[in-house]
Amino acid sequence: MLKIILMVVIAYLLGSIPSGLWIGQHFYNKDIRQLGSGNIGTTNTYRVLGPKAGTVVLVMDILKGTLAASQPYLFHSNINPLLIGIFASLGHTVSIFDHFHGGKAVATSAGILLAYNPPMFLLASAIFVAVLLITSMASAASIIGITSIFVIALVMHDYILATVAGILTAVVIYRHRSNINRIIHGQESMVSFGLGHYL
Ligand code: G3P
Repeated sequence: MLKIILMVVIAYLLGSIPSGLWIGQHFYNKDIRQLGSGNIGTTNTYRVLGPKAGTVVLVMDILKGTLAASQPYLFHSNINPLLIGIFASLGHTVSIFDHFHGGKAVATSAGILLAYNPPMFLLASAIFVAVLLITSMASAASIIGITSIFVIALVMHDYILATVAGILTAVVIYRHRSNINRIIHGQESMVSFGLGHYL
């Protein structure tokens, strides 16, 4: 039991690391909470600080989830990695290092999936990229990507994944309330795929 509590605490602390916020503050002297959408995730980092910072934040946020969910393998525990990893997503959205605010749980949740089922991570990433290319909206890609994992898990009768993906889908949709409102009103910001930084 103590091992599980320790893994949960580590997962929460890992997830709490506000990569976008810290990279903006330390390397660009900018607080991304005050710029763009105000979110501390990959999309807003990319939007405000550019592709290099956005890529670093993407990798860091994915790795937070992957590391957190890998703990049962590392510490020889039989507990399902998803049940530990979900606390990294919680940390990302309610971060102890950001006054219990945080991001929208997308990349960190993807990282959990990477530790649990790499092929499904690739599938989710492909769905995300496809929707992003079609709509140019990271928010739509995020919502559809995580929802599709929930549906696929149900179809595959993986009920632990379905439960965790269901909870995370609810969190992701809740955290995207303002994005959904902008999508409905045709005002959501589009991803420029970095061309603006090179042209
Ligand atoms: O992962 C966050 C993304 O889906 C939306 O980010 O900054 O456009 O609100 P943002």
